[in-house]
Amino acid sequence: MCGIVGYIGDAQAVPILLESLKMLEYRGYDSAGVTVFNGKLETYKIAGRIKDLEAVIPWNMQGSTGIGHTRWATHGKPETRNAHPHLSSDVSVVHNGIIENYMELKERLIGLDYEFKSDTDTEVIAHLLHFNMKCRGQKCLLDGLAETVKELKGSYAIAALCAEEPGLLAFARKDSPLVIGVGKGSNYAASDVTAFLKHTKEVIYINDNEIGLLKPDSIEIFDLEGKQVSRNAEIIEWDLEAAEKAGYEHFMLKEIHEQPTSIQNTFAGKLSELEGTVTLEELYLKPDEIKRLKRATIIACGTSWNAGILGKYIFEKLAGLHTDVETASEFRYSNPVLCGEELTIAITQSGETADTLAAVRSSSSYGCRSIAITNVVGSTITREADSVLYTRAGPEIGVAATKTFTAQLVALYMLAIYLGRIRGVVSANEAKDLIVGIKRLPGQIQKVLNRKDAINECAVQFADKRDYFFIGRYLNYPVALEGALKLKEISYIHAEGYAAGELKHGPLALITDETPVVAIATRGHTYEKILSNIKEVKARNATVIAVADDDDTEIDKYVDVVLRVPSSHELLAPVLSSVVLQLLSYYTALAKDCSIDKPRNLAKSVTVE
Ligand code: F6R
Repeated sequence: MCGIVGYIGDAQAVPILLESLKMLEYRGYDSAGVTVFNGKLETYKIAGRIKDLEAVIPWNMQGSTGIGHTRWATHGKPETRNAHPHLSSDVSVVHNGIIENYMELKERLIGLDYEFKSDTDTEVIAHLLHFNMKCRGQKCLLDGLAETVKELKGSYAIAALCAEEPGLLAFARKDSPLVIGVGKGSNYAASDVTAFLKHTKEVIYINDNEIGLLKPDSIEIFDLEGKQVSRNAEIIEWDLEAAEKAGYEHFMLKEIHEQPTSIQNTFAGKLSELEGTVTLEELYLKPDEIKRLKRATIIACGTSWNAGILGKYIFEKLAGLHTDVETASEFRYSNPVLCGEELTIAITQSGETADTLAAVRSSSSYGCRSIAITNVVGSTITREADSVLYTRAGPEIGVAATKTFTAQLVALYMLAIYLGRIRGVVSANEAKDLIVGIKRLPGQIQKVLNRKDAINECAVQFADKRDYFFIGRYLNYPVALEGALKLKEISYIHAEGYAAGELKHGPLALITDETPVVAIATRGHTYEKILSNIKEVKARNATVIAVADDDDTEIDKYVDVVLRVPSSHELLAPVLSSVVLQLLSYYTALAKDCSIDKPRNLAKSVTVE
């Protein structure tokens, strides 16, 4: 999982490439490099971040064509020799993805006297491209690249340069994102539009099995049979400011604070509290099909999977639809029993998670209809699923998902009400209550945000602890899972999210006076039960931090710290509690001086298995 960029035009390439790579660092940040055409190909690379790369590139480096890469190691350690670009004589290549048959290709190329300098899978692409161009008579970069990708198994977004064809930048894509930025007298290629948004908002998304050429004033796209593809550019509606920090110390804090707006944008134009209806015109499921549905399978990873657990509870309650939640990486290698009448719901903020994409393809092969819930317009999942329900949260740069998680919850509520109304499970009055509740969420989140000092104080108090537990029941169980995931991800504190009723089946043995327990205890039909669980851990001397309703004074008797949320509809409270836990993690990580936006070993978009 890496970020690639390419630039061809009339400006100096180095500053543009470095700036673009900084925007893509969320995709990986263990090593980086660039190649620029400067009469010949000049390459600089380093194990480290973009700022380290900047330091090794000569300040006066000339050249208006170049490619660059920011890496998240898959094959070969994060060392300079494994950083991209990879070279083969006068050919230079950057790649995002995994070449599954690279060992076989490597052996063949070694037999042809190619010398490998890295442990990466990518280096085979450079040598193979060179071989195809020089020895197999594919005279030009484009033909050479076409021949090369036909031999690759796996996933790739590639940008390539050849010193003999200085006015060209070639690209190819399969199963890894690639988008072209259309400029004036200059063009861009990148893993994500944020890389070049400062320069252009006109973009062309490249599909799988397409290759092409950029020149300063033209863009050509072909399929692998050499047939030219014509595709209009689309206009990106958000601007770079939306992708920058806007005065916050970290992207994560900015994104937490954006939630009143991101949620509002996600439900805008879809809810009618007068009629008790949700309008989801983007769904291509006919009412008859919805009524006939027997089962739904939610497929997702990480935070999106946590959202999926909440999805299960509300689909079952509001739509009367039996729902399973599957971890995408497990689902794709299991033997699901599907007959084609099930609905698959893929939740993925990036729309590029390799395991989720593969799992959706697998469920589609059984004939199941699919809905994708994603935040990224034009991402790969939007082309895999039958229907797409967008969360309109805006770009999320912090590696830890925050605003996209709560937007996913809102999308799931809307979908559950929509399905439930058609299936006759949820009444108009119940739907009205929920819709009113959803519309109140932005204001209620703002109230939670206004209490951030109290959350900060609590975070600082326990920031030196080694282990944390998060417990919740029913809809608060996924909140506990997500609270624990956030804390471990950005503060490196070991944290477990548990269904509170499960504690006594093992984990209670770990509770001591050194283990803070966060109990999500908003009011609802399991409130009394969570109070019992709180008493169980208190009896083992744990310090208990409760997330509870504003008007709940009873809870104060049993716990050490109460973090409050405005009272809301029982089903919707998870959105508010999640914001509290995001802030708790954020301030804990801040107190520990952790790398909040780019936690160690993690990357934003997991486009490899
Ligand atoms: C955690 C986090 C990850 C992602 C997971 C799936 O904060 O962001 O756990 O949720 O990698 O990513 P998407 O939703 O893009 O499929």
